[in-house]
Amino acid sequence: MSAEQNNQRFQLENVFNVKGRVALVTGGGSGIGLMATQALAVNGATVYITGRTGEKLDRVTELYGKNIPGQIIPLTSDVTSKDSIAQLVKEIESKEKALHILINNAGISSNPGNTDAEDPKQLQQELFQDSISTFAEWESVYRTNVTQAFFTTAAFLPLLQKGTDLDHGWSSTVINITSISGIVKTSQHHFAYNASKAAAIHLSTMLAHEIASSGLKIRVNNIAPGVFPSEMTAKSSDENQKSALPKEKYEQKVPANRPGKDEDMAGAVLFAAANQYLNGQTVVVDGGYVLAAGTV
Ligand SMILES: NC(=O)c1ccc[n+]([C@@H]2O[C@H](COP(=O)([O-])OP(=O)(O)OC[C@H]3O[C@@H](n4cnc5c(N)ncnc54)[C@H](OP(=O)(O)O)[C@@H]3O)[C@@H](O)[C@H]2O)c1
Repeated sequence: MSAEQNNQRFQLENVFNVKGRVALVTGGGSGIGLMATQALAVNGATVYITGRTGEKLDRVTELYGKNIPGQIIPLTSDVTSKDSIAQLVKEIESKEKALHILINNAGISSNPGNTDAEDPKQLQQELFQDSISTFAEWESVYRTNVTQAFFTTAAFLPLLQKGTDLDHGWSSTVINITSISGIVKTSQHHFAYNASKAAAIHLSTMLAHEIASSGLKIRVNNIAPGVFPSEMTAKSSDENQKSALPKEKYEQKVPANRPGKDEDMAGAVLFAAANQYLNGQTVVVDGGYVLAAGTV
């Protein structure tokens, strides 16, 4: 190989190439899922997006799916139901030969609880009272943030392996969207959410290990974002399905002095999807949040 040919291997379109890949992004209708969807579709991938609210998905397809090299295809689906996941597999299987990229992004937050009380009775009240937190709430958060990623990954294994088999030099990939909330020692006033995200990080490691041990060539990594604008963090989206967070709120909290941007997430998604040598890792994209907060 000549030096010139070798240089070409370093070009962005080779290093981060997702052209022609088929991807599924759960919860692709807003926030981080939408950022991941755009990162892939704008660079030539066919991206199926799911969520429970059809209108959100349709709006995203209408707004961001036009005049781009790839495609965005909406499919209403609930990740917390095995039937719904099985239906999704059927639907994608009927249209595509393979799935190259699965992004388990759908997630929910948990009720906030105040942990500042110094009096034991008061702290007990804050953590134990039913109006703030219940067994049912913990179970629902775990179901949406952890269990679904396990079942969705399991259900798509044959289609993901096909992606690897059909394309020499490509290994299909699962990217779980976890969180720095599963890494920092503070509960950030939501114990259930943070415990679920720590579980999702460990689930990703176990899946990477077990899938590799079974001899399948499917990489499993997770992206742990810091604070990004989304319906979860900003409580709403605008008419473009985009959310906003005030920069000032993060000036003292994060070394980057701001929340994450679309481009910050796009870079992480393209890196995790395209880098064939990345497996079993947590990619932290947080503007230094963990650095400032400290880990467990
Ligand atoms: N934004 C942040 O700062 C941040 C930081 C770290 C990690 N994360 C993680 O990033 C992921 C995306 O969250 P986000 O912040 O972008 O919030 P978001 O805008 O609320 O996005 C979550 C998406 O998941 C979908 N969803 C929720 N439950 C679902 C279900 N049962 N079945 C199918 N889809 C479902 C929602 O759509 P429907 O309600 O229409 O179903 C929504 O579009 C989550 O896993 C979250 O924990 C976010």
